[in-house]
Amino acid sequence: MAQRVFTVGSLIPGKIVPVPNRNIQQSPAIKLERKVPEQHSPVIKPEKIIVQQGDIQFEISPEKGKLLDAALNQGKQIQFKCRKGTCGQCTVKVLQGSGLSEPNEQEHNKLNKAIAGSYRLACQAEIL
Ligand code: FES
Repeated sequence: MAQRVFTVGSLIPGKIVPVPNRNIQQSPAIKLERKVPEQHSPVIKPEKIIVQQGDIQFEISPEKGKLLDAALNQGKQIQFKCRKGTCGQCTVKVLQGSGLSEPNEQEHNKLNKAIAGSYRLACQAEIL
């Protein structure tokens, strides 16, 4: 005697639902793997900061903190004196580098309109 299998679909009037034949050997499971294309996440290298002090250009790899500290940590011989934003010895012209903080009050006081010409105090400018 055939065993009837009831499913939700088989109870709907007018719907013919095939009864699975349990005697058929099931083929070994075929593992279907969908190859997902490898995502190439772009490696974003932080932009180097290039500053000029006098006739000398310095290329600084961005590292969080003061621009002057990053430069000195990387062996760049940027001139400085007070580190407080008052002497102006560390004034640099930023040739490249967008990851710097907005000029602070000391920079505005010391550099005035030179800020518009991309001048910064390396002891005050923060690398973000
Ligand atoms: S070292 Fe004096 S203003 Fe920066």
